Amino acid sequence: MAILKIARMGHPVLHRIADEIDDPAAPEVSAIVRDMIETLDDAGGIGLAAPQVHVPKRIVIFFIPAGRDGPEAEEDEGDEEGDEDRGIDLTIMINPKIQLLGQETTLDWEACLSVPGMMGAVPRHAAIRYRWQTLDGETMERQADGFHARAVQHECDHLDGILYPMRMDDLSLFGFADEVNRNKDLLARPNPEPEDEP
Ligand code: NI
Repeated sequence: MAILKIARMGHPVLHRIADEIDDPAAPEVSAIVRDMIETLDDAGGIGLAAPQVHVPKRIVIFFIPAGRDGPEAEEDEGDEEGDEDRGIDLTIMINPKIQLLGQETTLDWEACLSVPGMMGAVPRHAAIRYRWQTLDGETMERQADGFHARAVQHECDHLDGILYPMRMDDLSLFGFADEVNRNKDLLARPNPEPEDEP
């Protein structure tokens, strides 16, 4: 077990297409996943992709804290009433694939362990379906919206050499996290589709 060094924006490992894993059950895959979990725990993020620890392979780990698995927009019909938000447990994904659902996009803030100290408002697809293999080689599938969909898109982008600033279309909404957090209310809070005004 080891805490691994996190690659920062500018390092070429973050900008290449990561390799598929042929055998998710291989012991070296479990070993890197263990180190990724320890590294994420130490760094304090919610997700980590293997290229961020200098391993150019298609592995992502993430979790969604309770209270953040709801839709980003205040009001939205969740899948079900009383869809109370217990978050998503730590999920280990080998060879994840995303299918975009619909055309709707939302804009919200993101940060990244490979872009330390910064944050930016990034457009993302509002709803996705995603599929991955477990460490046993089993195929799993989930649907996601809101912050959950955003986090999965962000992490899987790392496997294709894409960092969140490369997805931004308004760099005036990119800055040092402490400044942005202090001034968030001064920036027009991103909200591309005003739902019916109260
Ligand atoms: Ni990231």
